[in-house]
Amino acid sequence: MKPILGIETSCDETASAVLDAHGQILAEVVFSQTKEHAAFGGVVPEIAARAHLKYLPELVRHSMAKAGVACADLGAVAATSGPGLIGGLIVGCQFGKGVAIANDLPFLAINHLEAHALSARLPGLSDHDVAFPYLLMLLSGGHSLCMAVTGLGHYQRLGGTIDDAVGEAFDKVAKLLGLPWPGGPALEALAAEGDPRAFAFPRPMLRRPGCDLSFSGLKTAVAQAIHQRDGIALGQQERADMAASFQQAVLETLADRASNACQMMRTRFPEATILVVAGGVAANRSVRAVLTRAAHRHGFELLAPPPRLCSDNAVMVAWAGLERARAGLIDDIGFKPVPRWPLETLRGATP
Ligand code: KG4
Ligand code: ZN
Repeated sequence: MKPILGIETSCDETASAVLDAHGQILAEVVFSQTKEHAAFGGVVPEIAARAHLKYLPELVRHSMAKAGVACADLGAVAATSGPGLIGGLIVGCQFGKGVAIANDLPFLAINHLEAHALSARLPGLSDHDVAFPYLLMLLSGGHSLCMAVTGLGHYQRLGGTIDDAVGEAFDKVAKLLGLPWPGGPALEALAAEGDPRAFAFPRPMLRRPGCDLSFSGLKTAVAQAIHQRDGIALGQQERADMAASFQQAVLETLADRASNACQMMRTRFPEATILVVAGGVAANRSVRAVLTRAAHRHGFELLAPPPRLCSDNAVMVAWAGLERARAGLIDDIGFKPVPRWPLETLRGATP
């Protein structure tokens, strides 16, 4: 197969990447719309869609030039087509279809969650062969999921959040602490200066059976601790202590849920030995460290893509496209982008 073009526009990252037929990265570009949304303290869907419209054509052109690949050299086009913010999805999906139609190429409508799920299989990321089945913890701004990945397009849900996603909790607590948006990385940096035992925040779901997650109670506990100060501005050390204590509660919860998920995986798929963590929150060094320890306790190896491939990017989209194209899972050019698209409903490869 010839090189593949990948396009990502499901949230607030506009991204384009070109991979060769073996999955080697020829070019990758990401434009984070941080400035566009910062004043609003979160992603504004309408602004995101317009920014994708403005930046995507130039980003695609730039990535193709960087890769030294012309449209005529491409073998396929893959674009994130759900789940996500519908305005951005329409921009990326329709742009990808346009390139596919103009050059008579197969089109792959990529599920954003599957792109995160498969990213650890990119060649050269680790010494391990990330073969199916493996355990996946997808920790992002919109999703927190524990899944058994049993094949391309084949997913079994083991657990997930019953309220806020873990990245959402990081973002909301960061906002409460007056940190700039996006909050996750800023909160991690502030937590490094604080005492994780300073505040006794709840550990949601700890020691409950299964691997469901919940973060809204923890977020409320942080909000109450701030409001109890009755308008007295928090000092820098107290803010750092709160950030560290919040992150510690998240870490203990994630470690506990990962332990249960490993046990569930071992029961259902005894041959599985790998836990993949993906999504923006997987860029957090402490999260990677606690999940590594939890995985080891259960005889699993933790694999996490490098931080730049944990947050939204087009390399993972192109890679998912390559995997699906190899399996013959080409999509109809009339595919309509969808804001909701659970992994369990994907069209999968024949085992
Ligand atoms: O996967 P992603 O880029 O976008 C979605 O698909 O949601 O994840 C973004 C989320 C945001 O909530 C962001 O604050 C969080 O990942 N995040 C982090 C870190 N880096 C990104 N959370 C905690 N620590 C980090 N270092
Ligand atoms: Zn994502």
